[in-house]
Amino acid sequence: MTTLALITGATSGIGEALAKRLASAGIPLLLTGRNNEKLELLQRELSRLTTVQTFSADLATPEGRALVVRRIQKDLPDLLVLNAGLGFYGDSINLSSQQQREQLDVDLIAPTEQLLAAARALTDAKRPGTILLVASALAFLPCPGLALYAAAKSHLLSLGQALDLELSPLGIRVLVSCPGQVATNFSSRATTKQNPRKHGHKIASSYAAERIWKQIQEKKGVDLFDARYALFIRLAQLLPRRWVMSALYSSIKARI
Ligand SMILES: NC(=O)c1ccc[n+]([C@@H]2O[C@H](COP(=O)([O-])OP(=O)(O)OC[C@H]3O[C@@H](n4cnc5c(N)ncnc54)[C@H](OP(=O)(O)O)[C@@H]3O)[C@@H](O)[C@H]2O)c1
Repeated sequence: MTTLALITGATSGIGEALAKRLASAGIPLLLTGRNNEKLELLQRELSRLTTVQTFSADLATPEGRALVVRRIQKDLPDLLVLNAGLGFYGDSINLSSQQQREQLDVDLIAPTEQLLAAARALTDAKRPGTILLVASALAFLPCPGLALYAAAKSHLLSLGQALDLELSPLGIRVLVSCPGQVATNFSSRATTKQNPRKHGHKIASSYAAERIWKQIQEKKGVDLFDARYALFIRLAQLLPRRWVMSALYSSIKARI
């Protein structure tokens, strides 16, 4: 039974939906994100169902990342959902240096540090646990137009699978969730355009949260959803890589 679940990026989208799902199962929560107002709102709303602690931390800063690591070491959650993330649409060289750095800090450095810190803290305490990384269907393919993002998610997929094998004998599982497009604030934050074009089929965030909760319960190593994305990724492995990347590039450009 889970004694404490830490969720990063709990203030919006998939993280918020998962916080609600876990609260309805009575799991004590430690929620983090940047948006203080939203954290307070979630605390008020979900404390009817379970114990909720919150703290804000900006993962784009060394101080914010260190704070999350300290909370992992102090509170020792036995379920961690490393979900915070963002992407910026566009060719990598057209992104500002700050945007490039922010993506690396939030999508790659932060979850890597948190994963390693949690694995060490749990093993030192001889406690079992589950660490779930929210990657993306794009972890399976290089993606021009969202190149740094897809590369960071690919890093999480590779790292998560390798560490799962290293840590399973110690009672710690590392799972990787790979959602297709989910209806959240992700796309509007990914572009500076006021009204980005709506593009493609999107899964509801409540469905994504349900999938992640099921994956945690079943301890499934990697979960790629929904069915359309799973099929697309499978087909993409059979087709010439350059052709698939060109198709993805066009699809990303159509979103901005
Ligand atoms: N939506 C999709 O289509 C999709 C598909 C595949 C994978 N994913 C992945 O799913 C995860 C959740 O994204 P979402 O779709 O739910 O998007 P979202 O609604 O934009 O939520 C992103 C979350 O990440 C947090 N975050 C962003 N930058 C942060 C920073 N510097 N410091 C701390 N927290 C930060 C946000 O916190 P604040 O609100 O407090 O800033 C927010 O809680 C991400 O890892 C994303 O890559 C999304």
